[in-house]
Amino acid sequence: MIMLGIIILAAGRGTRMKSSTPKVLHTICGQTMIDSVLQTVKGLNPQQIILVINETLQPYVEKLGYSYVIQKEPLGTGHAVQTALSIVDKNINNLFVLCGDTPFIQKETLQKALSLSNDLTVFGMNLCEKSLHKPYGRFVFNGEKLADIIEFKDANEEQKDIPYANAGVYFGTKDVFEKTLPYIQPHNKANEYYLTDMVRIAFEKGYHTGYLFGIEEEFLGINDQIDLARAEQYIQKKLRTFHLNNGVRLIDPETVYFQNCTTIAPNTVIHPHVIFGKNVHIHEHVTIFPYCHLENCTLQHHAQVGPFARLRGGVTLADHSEVGNFVEVKKSILGSYSKVKHLSYIGDTTTGKKVNIGAGTITCNYDGVHKYQTTIGDGAFIGSNTSLIAPLNIGNNALIGAGSTIVEDVSDNTLSIARAKQVHKTKRINPKKTFQ
Ligand code: UD1
Ligand code: CA
Repeated sequence: MIMLGIIILAAGRGTRMKSSTPKVLHTICGQTMIDSVLQTVKGLNPQQIILVINETLQPYVEKLGYSYVIQKEPLGTGHAVQTALSIVDKNINNLFVLCGDTPFIQKETLQKALSLSNDLTVFGMNLCEKSLHKPYGRFVFNGEKLADIIEFKDANEEQKDIPYANAGVYFGTKDVFEKTLPYIQPHNKANEYYLTDMVRIAFEKGYHTGYLFGIEEEFLGINDQIDLARAEQYIQKKLRTFHLNNGVRLIDPETVYFQNCTTIAPNTVIHPHVIFGKNVHIHEHVTIFPYCHLENCTLQHHAQVGPFARLRGGVTLADHSEVGNFVEVKKSILGSYSKVKHLSYIGDTTTGKKVNIGAGTITCNYDGVHKYQTTIGDGAFIGSNTSLIAPLNIGNNALIGAGSTIVEDVSDNTLSIARAKQVHKTKRINPKKTFQ
């Protein structure tokens, strides 16, 4: 019976990214690379997951609750796996090794290796013409067996043309890892302990070394910003197709950007140039007009947003509510059939049903130190260009005169106007003087 352990390599410096963020913490469609890999391998129900990391990742990984080892010096992928071997649970007999910078691998692909009788199976990809230049390691075969992997850096011109590339995913018995890793030497251009050398050593020791091919996109390794940008495009494309297939209308799909976690019900219409940040959930029959940025929000059925609207920080737009042009809504709940249609900022606010918030209304929710709440009752009407100075309660069916600065609570069914009275001083203008 297979007792499965997973080792994920994430201790490299990631120097090619030229970024202060550790490589595997870069996000693709909102999900970090390491999270994607973890999510996939969890589907295999392994007994143990071990992350090989460096110190910079420790604060992040500690929170996740998996086993981890710190590889103090990035001496190479072979050294990284050897560091992990020391903490593999005793009863584990088979291991997967994956790279934290190869986030698109699917569970179903990995599962294929479980049924093979090889001692070691290495996943590969058959490179298309335009990927031949990519610096992946190249497979060398001996009959049915995989005999060696030559790293691109160390390959001669002929070997560089081999289209069979190492995907960086290995499945083998614990025994084959234990019996080969100690023999890896850093005798190569990078002076690193290459994990890929274990293939040659295993082959020479008479182990059965096999391979499995998968599609190139699935095995994309992210090494630099160009890879990362391409990966983002690749997943965006998949997400667009996914939502279209679910019955979401995207008028110009290429201009809409999703996150992995975005959920959208059918019969929703999304106009061009809409960006979804984290945690957006859209129910049926919602319309999002062009140029909106939405994050952390739920839009209930028949809600409408935009054009040019921003929702963030935990927003619920109840059914049939409307947020219009140049409106920002933060951490607020807009009740059913309520409207904020023009040029407003609504923050830390809860409104009832059928509230109308006039153009230019601002909830003044921040005094520089604390944030304060505003509540607005059912059926209230807030006149245009009103400042609502929180904390504040506006009652049901209250009416606020346009241009008011409201500092005190307003009771139900009450009209409040708080603006300077208009004064008329006739014959005060010297006709010879003009105002500049
Ligand atoms: C590696 C493979 C290459 C393969 C490619 C697939 C080796 C020597 N080369 O190359 O054959 O085609 O992946 O994407 O294995 N890491 C550590 N500790 C280290 C060095 C690296 O944990 O000391 C981790 C990195 O964080 C990364 C992974 O191992 O997640 C792979 O390292 P990387 O330097 O990206 O290897 P590649 O050059 O891509
Ligand atoms: Ca890599």
